[in-house]
Amino acid sequence: MDIDSANLYFAKACAGCHGVDGRTPTTPYYPIIAGQNKAYIYNQLRDLKNGSRTNSMSIVMKGIMSAVSDEEMHIIAAWLAKQ
Ligand code: HEC
Repeated sequence: MDIDSANLYFAKACAGCHGVDGRTPTTPYYPIIAGQNKAYIYNQLRDLKNGSRTNSMSIVMKGIMSAVSDEEMHIIAAWLAKQ
């Protein structure tokens, strides 16, 4: 389960910006996302995907999230919460 979840995180290119563990972002513009509450992470992913979370940086995430399903968001959120 953990290995599959990590693979999903890598397969969707999340590590390219947020780092291999979600806490080592590759630039200062990308947030640390690991270790937060699972429901909080899921809600952010959903809102970034559906466009209800908008600010200067969310457009970056919106494009990425178009390729991530609701089920995958739950899996990734659970994995990130444990990192
Ligand atoms: C091209 C760089 C990039 C990629 C790839 C990327 N992100 Fe992000 N991510 C960002 C940026 C920039 C923000 C800040 C957006 C904002 O402030 O609205 C962000 C915000 C987030 C947040 C909200 C953090 C918070 O504390 O509210 C989460 C969760 C997140 N990303 C998860 C992911 C996941 C999961 C993936 C892979 C499916 C991913 N990101 C791929 C750049 C990226």
